Amino acid sequence: MPATILGIETSCDETAASVVAETGEAEKPWAIRSSVVASQAPIHREWGGVVPELASRQHIRDICGVVERALEQGGVGLADLDAIAVTQGPGLVGSLLVGLSFAKSLAAACDLPLVPVHHLAGHIESLFLQHGPLPLPAIVLVVSGGHTNLYLVPEPGVYRPLSRTRDDAAGEAYDKVAKLLGLGYPGGPIIDKLAKQGDDHAIDFPVARITHADRNAPFDPGLLDFSFSGVKTAVLRYVKARTAGEASYTPGRRGTPWKEAEQPAAGTLSDREMADVCASFQRVVVEALLDRTFAAAVHHRVRSVGIAGGVSANSRLRADAQKRGEELGLPVFVPTISLSTDNAAMIAAAGLRRFTAGVRGDLDVNADPALALLPTTPSPSPSPDPGR
Ligand code: KG4
Ligand code: ZN
Repeated sequence: MPATILGIETSCDETAASVVAETGEAEKPWAIRSSVVASQAPIHREWGGVVPELASRQHIRDICGVVERALEQGGVGLADLDAIAVTQGPGLVGSLLVGLSFAKSLAAACDLPLVPVHHLAGHIESLFLQHGPLPLPAIVLVVSGGHTNLYLVPEPGVYRPLSRTRDDAAGEAYDKVAKLLGLGYPGGPIIDKLAKQGDDHAIDFPVARITHADRNAPFDPGLLDFSFSGVKTAVLRYVKARTAGEASYTPGRRGTPWKEAEQPAAGTLSDREMADVCASFQRVVVEALLDRTFAAAVHHRVRSVGIAGGVSANSRLRADAQKRGEELGLPVFVPTISLSTDNAAMIAAAGLRRFTAGVRGDLDVNADPALALLPTTPSPSPSPDPGR
């Protein structure tokens, strides 16, 4: 019997629930029956970022209604479920606890198995949920507000970490740059939109290049690490210099004075310049993400590339990734926008992967804000030896 699972996600500022069912079809093994997301963005916008205490309180208000709607829209009752999957970590501990406590209570009340899920396994599985099995091995970039990680996926359910960010995540850099430009929260979609009207070469923001002293040295996996705090600081210095009416900006222009037409006006940036800052910032971030993703893809001779997580909603990242993939003859997969940003369908999918592999969580499982992603989903428990 194909399994049906309820997924619950509350790791940050989205309360989400979803019903996903197995289809029995090899090309598309999972189908989304419903996916409900209650976003708290309007609440946190006022503060320029997520306020953990407000987030957990809002999850408590929303969780019952969101789960009820997911079941209703999925056309299933609690009796039709085979398991409940829930994000165990990483994330904000207060927020995680709301979803996890709710899932544990429901599992106990309905006598259903509980399947704890790693949030990033959810982002990776969003690719398989949408596209079916990817050609493997694959390189998957998970790029969100909290993470920027590269994984090698040699087979379904196996996630081998290759690199991570040494400081800010890419989404965090987007959010911080939007905040310092006074653009609002979350910053990614706003910068993405404004960047379309700007000149992406107007300002030469630097991006951290992690290079090897010896250019002929063998491939060093450390070179795949990311770093985004430098470009964020460069934007800050640029904006400060411009709005203070200083005569030059150092990082990109190497101390050269502004051209006459560019004489800085003290105060705020013009709309035109704001768009140029967004476009120039976005260009270097996207280049940094794709340089390393495709370097890893070539080195590991993979058969496909996947990009998941909130920042994978970025229009330039998507377009440039497709272009690079075409140049290398590598298929590139990204989820639809609703599966890119946090949602519970991806948690249900990762939950189904673990459930069919025999994973069950105890009811005393705890939220873990720094949960590590284990490279391998345990394989199905061996069937009892008929000879004994
Ligand atoms: O995966 P996600 O919803 O939550 C986390 O797990 O962090 O990712 C949220 C992040 C935020 O930093 C947001 O600014 C960014 O994804 N984001 C984008 C875009 N849409 C969302 N970044 C760049 N361009 C976008 N279009
Ligand atoms: Zn996420």
